Amino acid sequence: MRFPVTLTLLLASGLSLAEPQGLEAEARALIPPFAQALQDTLRQALADGGPQNAVQACQSLAPTIAEQHSREPWRVGRTALKVRNPANRPDAWERQVLERFAAAAAAGQPVAGLSHGEVVDGEYRYMQAIPTGEPCLACHGKNIDKALLATLDARYPQDQARGFALGELRGAFTLRRPLDGMAP
Ligand code: HEC
Repeated sequence: MRFPVTLTLLLASGLSLAEPQGLEAEARALIPPFAQALQDTLRQALADGGPQNAVQACQSLAPTIAEQHSREPWRVGRTALKVRNPANRPDAWERQVLERFAAAAAAGQPVAGLSHGEVVDGEYRYMQAIPTGEPCLACHGKNIDKALLATLDARYPQDQARGFALGELRGAFTLRRPLDGMAP
């Protein structure tokens, strides 16, 4: 395959304009408020009506929370090798990074410390691994309550996000922003 010269130049200039350090810091700063909002929503929904209610809240609110925390030109979201919501399926680059995270975790590296940023096709992309915590097991673990399983089956007929163990790689935050429009 032959790339047009203009595209090659664009990619090259995009790379030289990128400030991977600054962008990584920006990406990192967007994650805690996003994670916090998800956690607060989950905690509130559990307190209000237990796990059944919380599943419903996650389904209706998780995409909105991701949108609210996507500050132009950034887009934030979550993905995983095994997803509950098919809309969160990884693209080819995300899958590759997740597989690398999984290999590092299998080699004994702490999941919470795994992250990766890179310029890909005119965008800066960043991912940070999400470990499976204790409160996650009720909905993503090996012994999910029967009634809750029925709810999950009904709402997510293709659910793959179960059977996780404490500390295991659950998924990752995934962030991206185009490089064009960046100050030289
Ligand atoms: C009350 C049940 C419940 C609990 C507890 C829960 N989750 Fe989830 N999780 C869900 C649901 C439902 C979705 C799908 C949301 C959607 O439709 O976008 C989901 C989606 C996700 C996703 C996005 C990828 C995917 O599979 O679609 C990640 C990552 C995730 N959860 C991680 C966690 C982590 C980490 C914890 C613990 C801190 C946790 N979850 C606790 C129900 C739960």
